[in-house]
Amino acid sequence: MTVDIGATRLRRLRRTPALRNLVRETRLDPSMLVAPLFVRPGRGVREPIGSMPGVARWSADRGADEAARLADLGVGGIILFGLPDSKDALGSEASADDGIVQETFRRIRELDLPLVTIADTCLCEYTDHGHCGPLAADGSVDNEAALERLAATAVSQARAGADIVAPSAMMDGQVAALRSALDAAGFGQTAIMAYASKHASAFYGPFREAVDSTPAFGDRRGYQMDPANGREALREMDLDIAEGADLLLIKPAITALDLIAAARARFNLPIAAYQVSGEFAMLAAASERGWLDGRRAMLEAVTAIARAGAGIVITYAAADIAGWLREDR
Ligand code: PBG
Repeated sequence: MTVDIGATRLRRLRRTPALRNLVRETRLDPSMLVAPLFVRPGRGVREPIGSMPGVARWSADRGADEAARLADLGVGGIILFGLPDSKDALGSEASADDGIVQETFRRIRELDLPLVTIADTCLCEYTDHGHCGPLAADGSVDNEAALERLAATAVSQARAGADIVAPSAMMDGQVAALRSALDAAGFGQTAIMAYASKHASAFYGPFREAVDSTPAFGDRRGYQMDPANGREALREMDLDIAEGADLLLIKPAITALDLIAAARARFNLPIAAYQVSGEFAMLAAASERGWLDGRRAMLEAVTAIARAGAGIVITYAAADIAGWLREDR
Protein backbone atom coordinates (compact mmCIF):
# COMPACT_ATOMS: atom_id res chain seq x y z
CA MET A 1 0.00 0.00 0.00
CA THR A 2 1.38 3.45 -0.88
CA VAL A 3 -0.10 6.48 0.76
CA ASP A 4 0.78 9.90 -0.56
CA ILE A 5 1.59 11.95 2.53
CA GLY A 6 3.00 14.91 0.65
CA ALA A 7 6.30 16.75 0.98
CA THR A 8 6.13 17.91 4.58
CA ARG A 9 8.55 15.80 6.59
CA LEU A 10 9.09 16.93 10.17
CA ARG A 11 11.69 14.23 10.66
CA ARG A 12 14.11 16.15 8.40
CA LEU A 13 15.06 18.43 11.28
CA ARG A 14 15.33 15.57 13.80
CA ARG A 15 17.97 13.68 11.85
CA THR A 16 21.18 14.64 13.70
CA PRO A 17 22.08 16.02 17.15
CA ALA A 18 23.31 19.22 15.47
CA LEU A 19 20.00 19.76 13.65
CA ARG A 20 18.06 19.07 16.84
CA ASN A 21 20.22 21.54 18.77
CA LEU A 22 19.69 24.19 16.12
CA VAL A 23 15.89 24.01 16.18
CA ARG A 24 15.47 23.51 19.94
CA GLU A 25 12.81 25.95 21.18
CA THR A 26 13.54 25.92 24.89
CA ARG A 27 17.00 26.13 26.44
CA LEU A 28 17.77 26.02 30.11
CA ASP A 29 20.47 28.21 31.56
CA PRO A 30 21.78 28.08 35.15
CA SER A 31 21.07 31.80 35.52
CA MET A 32 17.30 31.17 35.36
CA LEU A 33 17.40 28.74 38.29
CA VAL A 34 16.82 29.55 41.95
CA ALA A 35 17.90 27.12 44.67
CA PRO A 36 15.95 26.88 47.95
CA LEU A 37 18.22 26.82 51.04
CA PHE A 38 17.04 25.70 54.47
CA VAL A 39 18.91 27.30 57.35
CA ARG A 40 18.89 26.42 61.06
CA PRO A 41 20.78 27.51 64.16
CA GLY A 42 24.24 26.16 64.96
CA ARG A 43 27.74 26.13 63.49
CA GLY A 44 29.21 23.81 60.91
CA VAL A 45 25.92 21.94 60.45
CA ARG A 46 24.79 20.08 57.34
CA GLU A 47 21.76 17.98 58.18
CA PRO A 48 20.35 15.90 55.31
CA ILE A 49 16.58 15.85 54.75
CA GLY A 50 15.31 12.27 54.40
CA SER A 51 12.60 12.83 51.84
CA MET A 52 14.75 15.10 49.65
CA PRO A 53 17.97 13.29 48.72
CA GLY A 54 20.85 15.76 48.32
CA VAL A 55 18.98 18.59 50.09
CA ALA A 56 20.05 19.65 53.58
CA ARG A 57 19.46 22.06 56.43
CA TRP A 58 22.49 24.27 56.92
CA SER A 59 23.76 26.46 59.71
CA ALA A 60 24.32 30.07 58.58
CA ASP A 61 28.07 29.59 58.04
CA ARG A 62 27.66 26.45 55.92
CA GLY A 63 24.61 27.98 54.17
CA ALA A 64 26.76 30.89 53.03
CA ASP A 65 29.36 28.40 51.73
CA GLU A 66 26.61 26.61 49.83
CA ALA A 67 25.45 29.92 48.35
CA ALA A 68 29.02 30.52 47.16
CA ARG A 69 29.10 27.06 45.55
CA LEU A 70 25.80 27.79 43.77
CA ALA A 71 27.09 31.16 42.54
CA ASP A 72 30.17 29.37 41.23
CA LEU A 73 27.92 27.02 39.25
CA GLY A 74 26.21 30.04 37.70
CA VAL A 75 22.88 29.52 39.50
CA GLY A 76 20.84 32.73 39.37
CA GLY A 77 19.57 32.98 42.92
CA ILE A 78 18.78 31.41 46.25
CA ILE A 79 15.59 31.52 48.31
CA LEU A 80 16.00 31.13 52.07
CA PHE A 81 13.73 29.27 54.48
CA GLY A 82 14.45 29.28 58.21
CA LEU A 83 14.00 26.82 61.05
CA PRO A 84 14.03 28.98 64.15
CA ASP A 85 15.30 28.11 67.64
CA SER A 86 11.85 28.60 69.10
CA LYS A 87 8.31 28.94 67.79
CA ASP A 88 5.39 30.89 69.28
CA ALA A 89 1.81 31.85 68.45
CA LEU A 90 2.84 34.97 66.50
CA GLY A 91 5.87 33.54 64.71
CA SER A 92 8.02 36.19 66.37
CA GLU A 93 11.34 34.78 65.18
CA ALA A 94 10.39 35.45 61.54
CA SER A 95 10.93 39.19 61.98
CA ALA A 96 13.83 39.04 64.46
CA ASP A 97 16.84 40.98 63.17
CA ASP A 98 19.07 38.30 64.73
CA GLY A 99 16.92 35.49 63.25
CA ILE A 100 18.49 32.61 61.36
CA VAL A 101 17.44 33.82 57.90
CA GLN A 102 18.61 37.35 58.63
CA GLU A 103 21.99 36.09 59.89
CA THR A 104 22.46 34.00 56.76
CA PHE A 105 21.60 36.93 54.47
CA ARG A 106 24.22 39.06 56.25
CA ARG A 107 26.87 36.37 55.80
CA ILE A 108 25.99 35.95 52.13
CA ARG A 109 26.08 39.71 51.62
CA GLU A 110 29.62 39.80 53.04
CA LEU A 111 30.69 37.37 50.31
CA ASP A 112 29.37 39.74 47.62
CA LEU A 113 28.27 36.88 45.36
CA PRO A 114 26.84 37.38 41.84
CA LEU A 115 23.57 35.84 43.03
CA VAL A 116 20.07 37.20 43.69
CA THR A 117 19.03 36.74 47.32
CA ILE A 118 15.35 35.98 47.92
CA ALA A 119 13.48 35.58 51.20
CA ASP A 120 10.39 33.42 51.53
CA THR A 121 8.15 35.69 53.59
CA CYS A 122 5.82 33.51 55.64
CA LEU A 123 5.17 32.61 59.24
CA CYS A 124 4.35 28.89 59.15
CA GLU A 125 7.93 27.84 59.94
CA TYR A 126 7.86 30.15 62.97
CA THR A 127 4.43 29.63 64.54
CA ASP A 128 3.92 26.90 67.14
CA HIS A 129 0.59 25.97 65.50
CA GLY A 130 2.14 25.80 62.01
CA HIS A 131 -0.32 28.14 60.28
CA CYS A 132 0.80 31.04 58.11
CA GLY A 133 -0.35 33.80 60.47
CA PRO A 134 -1.64 34.51 63.98
CA LEU A 135 -4.95 32.87 64.83
CA ALA A 136 -8.29 34.57 65.49
CA ALA A 137 -10.53 33.43 68.35
CA ASP A 138 -12.34 30.97 66.09
CA GLY A 139 -9.08 29.24 65.09
CA SER A 140 -8.90 30.68 61.59
CA VAL A 141 -5.90 32.76 60.49
CA ASP A 142 -6.46 36.46 61.25
CA ASN A 143 -5.78 38.13 57.90
CA GLU A 144 -5.05 41.66 59.20
CA ALA A 145 -2.84 40.42 62.05
CA ALA A 146 -0.94 38.26 59.55
CA LEU A 147 -0.36 41.28 57.27
CA GLU A 148 1.26 43.17 60.11
CA ARG A 149 3.56 40.26 60.95
CA LEU A 150 4.42 39.59 57.30
CA ALA A 151 5.25 43.26 56.71
CA ALA A 152 7.57 43.36 59.74
CA THR A 153 9.22 40.13 58.53
CA ALA A 154 9.80 41.49 55.02
CA VAL A 155 11.35 44.71 56.36
CA SER A 156 13.69 42.72 58.58
CA GLN A 157 14.65 40.47 55.64
CA ALA A 158 15.31 43.51 53.45
CA ARG A 159 17.42 45.08 56.20
CA ALA A 160 19.51 41.89 56.34
CA GLY A 161 20.17 42.05 52.60
CA ALA A 162 17.38 40.30 50.68
CA ASP A 163 17.09 41.62 47.11
CA ILE A 164 13.60 40.17 46.76
CA VAL A 165 10.94 39.23 49.30
CA ALA A 166 8.46 36.53 48.35
CA PRO A 167 5.23 36.53 50.38
CA SER A 168 3.82 32.98 50.41
CA ALA A 169 1.13 33.11 53.10
CA MET A 170 -1.77 33.67 50.67
CA MET A 171 -3.23 36.41 52.86
CA ASP A 172 -5.44 38.94 51.08
CA GLY A 173 -3.54 42.18 50.54
CA GLN A 174 -0.12 40.77 51.41
CA VAL A 175 1.64 42.37 48.44
CA ALA A 176 0.20 45.83 49.18
CA ALA A 177 1.08 45.47 52.86
CA LEU A 178 4.69 44.55 52.06
CA ARG A 179 5.10 47.29 49.45
CA SER A 180 3.95 50.05 51.76
CA ALA A 181 5.96 48.78 54.75
CA LEU A 182 9.12 48.38 52.66
CA ASP A 183 8.75 51.85 51.16
CA ALA A 184 8.08 53.42 54.56
CA ALA A 185 11.23 51.77 55.96
CA GLY A 186 13.41 53.05 53.11
CA PHE A 187 13.52 49.80 51.10
CA GLY A 188 11.95 51.12 47.94
CA GLN A 189 14.41 49.06 45.89
CA THR A 190 13.49 45.71 47.44
CA ALA A 191 11.42 43.79 44.89
CA ILE A 192 8.39 41.63 45.60
CA MET A 193 7.93 38.22 44.01
CA ALA A 194 4.31 37.35 44.78
CA TYR A 195 3.37 33.73 45.33
CA ALA A 196 0.34 34.76 43.35
CA SER A 197 -1.03 31.37 42.48
CA LYS A 198 -0.43 28.94 45.29
CA HIS A 199 -2.60 25.86 45.50
CA ALA A 200 -3.32 23.96 48.73
CA SER A 201 -1.23 21.08 47.45
CA ALA A 202 -0.28 17.59 48.62
CA PHE A 203 3.08 18.18 46.93
CA TYR A 204 4.39 20.34 49.80
CA GLY A 205 4.71 17.24 52.03
CA PRO A 206 8.50 16.84 52.09
CA PHE A 207 8.99 20.59 52.64
CA ARG A 208 6.85 20.48 55.76
CA GLU A 209 9.03 17.67 57.10
CA ALA A 210 12.11 19.75 56.29
CA VAL A 211 10.96 22.78 58.26
CA ASP A 212 8.57 21.09 60.68
CA SER A 213 5.64 23.26 59.57
CA THR A 214 2.79 20.77 59.30
CA PRO A 215 -0.23 22.55 60.84
CA ALA A 216 -0.95 21.30 64.39
CA PHE A 217 -4.66 21.22 63.48
CA GLY A 218 -6.69 21.67 60.33
CA ASP A 219 -5.10 22.46 56.99
CA ARG A 220 -4.28 25.46 54.79
CA ARG A 221 -7.38 25.34 52.59
CA GLY A 222 -8.80 28.43 54.30
CA TYR A 223 -6.10 30.54 52.65
CA GLN A 224 -4.32 28.56 49.92
CA MET A 225 -6.26 27.99 46.70
CA ASP A 226 -8.28 24.95 45.68
CA PRO A 227 -6.12 23.10 43.11
CA ALA A 228 -9.26 22.80 40.97
CA ASN A 229 -9.30 26.54 40.32
CA GLY A 230 -7.54 28.26 37.44
CA ARG A 231 -9.66 31.37 36.84
CA GLU A 232 -9.33 32.21 40.52
CA ALA A 233 -5.55 31.90 40.12
CA LEU A 234 -5.66 34.54 37.38
CA ARG A 235 -7.66 36.81 39.71
CA GLU A 236 -4.94 36.36 42.34
CA MET A 237 -2.36 37.38 39.75
CA ASP A 238 -4.40 40.43 38.62
CA LEU A 239 -4.69 41.56 42.23
CA ASP A 240 -1.02 41.02 43.04
CA ILE A 241 0.00 43.07 40.01
CA ALA A 242 -2.38 45.85 41.05
CA GLU A 243 -0.89 45.73 44.57
CA GLY A 244 2.62 46.22 43.20
CA ALA A 245 4.16 42.79 42.55
CA ASP A 246 7.39 42.94 40.51
CA LEU A 247 7.41 39.22 39.64
CA LEU A 248 4.72 36.53 39.73
CA LEU A 249 5.32 33.06 41.14
CA ILE A 250 3.19 30.03 40.37
CA LYS A 251 3.34 26.95 42.57
CA PRO A 252 3.42 23.97 42.31
CA ALA A 253 4.76 23.93 38.74
CA ILE A 254 4.06 20.65 36.99
CA THR A 255 0.40 20.60 38.10
CA ALA A 256 -0.05 24.21 36.95
CA LEU A 257 1.52 24.34 33.48
CA ASP A 258 -1.77 25.73 32.18
CA LEU A 259 -1.52 28.64 34.60
CA ILE A 260 2.11 29.32 33.73
CA ALA A 261 1.15 29.47 30.05
CA ALA A 262 -1.88 31.67 30.75
CA ALA A 263 0.17 34.04 32.89
CA ARG A 264 2.87 34.29 30.21
CA ALA A 265 0.30 35.14 27.54
CA ARG A 266 -1.52 37.65 29.69
CA PHE A 267 1.07 39.56 31.70
CA ASN A 268 4.37 41.21 30.92
CA LEU A 269 5.99 40.65 34.32
CA PRO A 270 8.68 38.05 34.84
CA ILE A 271 6.97 34.72 35.53
CA ALA A 272 8.55 32.28 37.98
CA ALA A 273 7.45 28.74 38.81
CA TYR A 274 8.29 26.66 41.88
CA GLN A 275 9.01 22.98 41.30
CA VAL A 276 8.07 22.06 44.86
CA SER A 277 9.41 19.47 47.27
CA GLY A 278 6.95 16.74 46.27
CA GLU A 279 7.74 17.17 42.57
CA PHE A 280 11.43 16.81 43.39
CA ALA A 281 10.91 13.88 45.78
CA MET A 282 8.85 11.88 43.25
CA LEU A 283 11.61 12.05 40.68
CA ALA A 284 14.35 11.40 43.23
CA ALA A 285 12.57 8.34 44.65
CA ALA A 286 11.81 6.81 41.26
CA SER A 287 15.38 7.47 40.19
CA GLU A 288 16.79 5.81 43.34
CA ARG A 289 14.76 2.71 42.53
CA GLY A 290 16.02 2.69 39.00
CA TRP A 291 12.49 3.22 37.72
CA LEU A 292 13.50 6.15 35.58
CA ASP A 293 16.59 8.04 34.51
CA GLY A 294 16.65 10.77 37.14
CA ARG A 295 18.81 13.18 35.18
CA ARG A 296 16.77 12.99 31.99
CA ALA A 297 13.46 13.12 33.86
CA MET A 298 14.51 16.17 35.88
CA LEU A 299 15.76 18.03 32.79
CA GLU A 300 12.55 17.15 30.94
CA ALA A 301 10.35 18.38 33.81
CA VAL A 302 12.20 21.68 34.22
CA THR A 303 12.33 22.20 30.45
CA ALA A 304 8.54 21.68 30.31
CA ILE A 305 8.08 24.29 33.04
CA ALA A 306 10.20 26.72 31.02
CA ARG A 307 8.42 25.81 27.77
CA ALA A 308 5.09 26.60 29.42
CA GLY A 309 6.38 30.12 30.01
CA ALA A 310 8.40 30.33 33.21
CA GLY A 311 11.55 32.41 32.80
CA ILE A 312 12.63 31.60 36.36
CA VAL A 313 12.41 28.16 37.96
CA ILE A 314 12.85 27.52 41.67
CA THR A 315 14.09 23.95 42.00
CA TYR A 316 15.85 21.75 44.55
CA ALA A 317 17.84 20.37 41.63
CA ALA A 318 19.36 23.76 40.70
CA ALA A 319 22.96 22.75 41.48
CA ASP A 320 22.60 19.39 39.72
CA ILE A 321 21.05 20.97 36.65
CA ALA A 322 23.71 23.69 36.49
CA GLY A 323 26.37 20.97 36.61
CA TRP A 324 24.65 18.87 33.92
CA LEU A 325 24.26 21.87 31.61
CA ARG A 326 27.96 22.54 31.96
CA GLU A 327 28.79 18.88 31.12
CA ASP A 328 26.48 18.89 28.11
CA ARG A 329 28.05 21.99 26.60
C1 PBG B 1 5.50 28.63 53.19
C2 PBG B 1 5.89 27.81 52.02
C3 PBG B 1 5.63 26.46 51.74
C4 PBG B 1 6.33 26.16 50.57
C5 PBG B 1 6.96 27.32 50.16
N1 PBG B 1 6.67 28.32 51.06
C6 PBG B 1 4.88 25.45 52.51
C7 PBG B 1 3.41 25.49 52.57
O1 PBG B 1 2.76 26.40 52.10
O2 PBG B 1 2.90 24.57 53.18
C8 PBG B 1 6.38 24.81 49.91
C9 PBG B 1 7.61 24.56 49.12
C10 PBG B 1 7.85 23.14 48.73
O3 PBG B 1 7.02 22.23 48.96
O4 PBG B 1 8.92 22.89 48.17
N2 PBG B 1 4.14 28.88 53.30
